[in-house]
Amino acid sequence: WPLIVRDVEAIEALKRQRNAVVLGHNYQAPEIFNTVADIVGDSLALAREAVTVDADVIVMAGVHFMAETAKLLNPSKTVLMPDMEAGCSLAESITAEDVRLMRARYPGVPVVTYVNTSAAVKAESDYCCTSGNAVKVVRAVAKEWGVNRILMLPDEYLAQNVQKEVPELELIAWKGHCEVHERFTPTDIRDLRESHPGVVVLAHPECPPEVVEAADFAGSTAAMADYVGDHKPARVVLITECSMADNVAVSHPEVEFVRPCNLCPHMRRITLPNIRRALETMTHQVEIDPLVADRARLAVERMLAIR
Ligand code: 13P
Ligand code: SF4
Repeated sequence: WPLIVRDVEAIEALKRQRNAVVLGHNYQAPEIFNTVADIVGDSLALAREAVTVDADVIVMAGVHFMAETAKLLNPSKTVLMPDMEAGCSLAESITAEDVRLMRARYPGVPVVTYVNTSAAVKAESDYCCTSGNAVKVVRAVAKEWGVNRILMLPDEYLAQNVQKEVPELELIAWKGHCEVHERFTPTDIRDLRESHPGVVVLAHPECPPEVVEAADFAGSTAAMADYVGDHKPARVVLITECSMADNVAVSHPEVEFVRPCNLCPHMRRITLPNIRRALETMTHQVEIDPLVADRARLAVERMLAIR
């Protein structure tokens, strides 16, 4: 504890000195999420907040694609990543060249890419989406473009889960998976229901479709947190990265959280000491080639314009 307190105090002082804010994703460890993070949320909320944030410096307590999204939306601000190696298996699963090849194979079909991608991939896309707005985005794109086929890249499971909500459309998927969510199985859910009678099962749509089908509700990290707040189940399990349950549990002491643990190794790379170092040394600064950034920003802004 004394070390945590010392880092938190140092980070708070540095935030004032640098006019900095810390954006914290819902998967951040509780000692970051509940202390130095000024704005917390899912990928969609962090992207929205990045537009309005009144600071010179943004520190991303999250993974690299989230920092790139913040930089795209704030080109004049300094965006710091405490550890540049904090990546994402989905972002790694596809390159800009892959998107160009898919476009060549499906001419005229609009491309919607998940926010969990590099800026270079976003630059090849027409729209971006998150797990919080994917259904809304594909419906809006289909209407605007007058099409019923959409390339939805790169998360195969998210595309399959969204497909169930929009049977009128044909979503063409890629083969990317989240290394955390792909590990859950329907057997895990059956076992959890047996060992914890009455448990309400909430799952992230990056899980395989058969896992989502076995759950009671599926939604983004923010949607799962809202579900707990709105329904106050006596017992709940969040089928997602496990720091999330620690963070949501803080606001709901009356709810029993069953906690199977799959950690995201990329999110875990962010620590109080490296947030402190980022602000002390003003590293590592996220830079995006302006030619890429202009096109990638368009895809993110088109997403944010869909309400
Ligand atoms: P959310 O957009 O639901 O926060 O998800 C981001 C993510 O990386 C999930 O693994
Ligand atoms: Fe990427 Fe999965 Fe980690 Fe989210 S949990 S950042 S999708 S690897």
